[in-house]
Amino acid sequence: MKVLITGGAGFIGSHTAHALVDRGHEVRVLDALRPPVHTGQKFPGHLLDRGVECVLGDVRNRDAWEKALDGVDAVYHLAAYQDYLTDFSTFFATNTVSTALLYEVLVARGQTLSRVVVASSQAVYGEGTYRCPACPQADVLRPGPRSRDRLDRGLWDLPCPSCGTALEPEWTDESQTRPHNSYALSKYGEEAAALMLGERYGIPTVALRYSIVQGARQSFRNAYSGILRIFAQRVLNGAAPLAYEDGHQVRDYISVHDVTRANLLVLADDRAVGQAFNVGGGRRVSIREYADLVVRAAGAEMEPWISGSYRVGDTRHVLSSNAALERLGWRPRVGLPAVVDEYLSWAVAQPDFKDFTTEADDQMYALGALRRTR
Ligand SMILES: NC(=O)c1ccc[n+]([C@@H]2O[C@H](COP(=O)([O-])OP(=O)(O)OC[C@H]3O[C@@H](n4cnc5c(N)ncnc54)[C@H](O)[C@@H]3O)[C@@H](O)[C@H]2O)c1
Repeated sequence: MKVLITGGAGFIGSHTAHALVDRGHEVRVLDALRPPVHTGQKFPGHLLDRGVECVLGDVRNRDAWEKALDGVDAVYHLAAYQDYLTDFSTFFATNTVSTALLYEVLVARGQTLSRVVVASSQAVYGEGTYRCPACPQADVLRPGPRSRDRLDRGLWDLPCPSCGTALEPEWTDESQTRPHNSYALSKYGEEAAALMLGERYGIPTVALRYSIVQGARQSFRNAYSGILRIFAQRVLNGAAPLAYEDGHQVRDYISVHDVTRANLLVLADDRAVGQAFNVGGGRRVSIREYADLVVRAAGAEMEPWISGSYRVGDTRHVLSSNAALERLGWRPRVGLPAVVDEYLSWAVAQPDFKDFTTEADDQMYALGALRRTR
């Protein structure tokens, strides 16, 4: 097949491009090479060397889609605006409107594709699913976002509405979403538009809700989010890993290689069409545990710095259940220590590797995207 990957010069897109080339597909990348991930207008050599056709263009631009779609059989739409900054409209223009534009162009041209795969995110769940450990008979809870007043007072946990005990996260399935920041809402809009238009116009579409993805080639220039790149930048430069809130938040981090296998699976498996799937790491890890892992892997000795600051719109805990994608034969395989080792080896080999986290935090504080407790 000839496969178009938007955002293919980025982290997940480039791994997907390599895997497709390895399987004999032709790959075209459409990417605007946006900062901070990219610093110039040159496509990465590791794509050009593998024979990937690289096209400079913006997914918000109709002409870019018109050219990039010529002759392709399938599309991965991975280009996106991410993180926690306050230019809210950019999230929707880049993530949601571009997706509608993709289908608009396909329908106008009468172009049929064998698959469109859109990159959604675990962020669509907001706080996900919880249970109260003190009220075991009670139903699962799907709380809304934490109140600003509680966060400003450093009260991080979500309280049980009946007894006030801190709620415990459960594994969240795909059935209900509750996005509560601009990125999450724009990603929900993206997958909803893609699945609806795909169904209506007979364009087989799949949405994948990745948990937090980690691995080599995840740009350290973007230090607004991404636990491994943030911890690695600090630890390898002699600074303690900085944890927001109290560091007890849990997530299910996943290797980019497991994500790539999920991407390839849904390209070929027709049972996936018309659905959104979680793609998670399958293990529960706290920020503090992650910090210890990075410190040990770097051969350092230091305690995490618990900053007590919080990112506005962040979730307390979230864990994605992989049950639906496992029914199609996929499961995560790569352990977290291997992910950390791979990233650290890659990062130290980069000539321009340095700590961008202080700059990123300063900018987030200035914009009110990162806040200190009272
Ligand atoms: N990395 C994660 O943890 C994670 C988690 C959940 C979902 N996702 C989703 O996966 C996808 C890929 O993420 P990633 O981590 O590889 O990001 P990345 O930042 O490494 O890559 C994104 C690429 O998109 C390109 N891009 C940005 N805006 C563009 C535009 N307007 N037009 C064309 N290209 C543009 C960038 O230049 C970059 O190369 C995104 O859709 C993201 O929302 C990522």
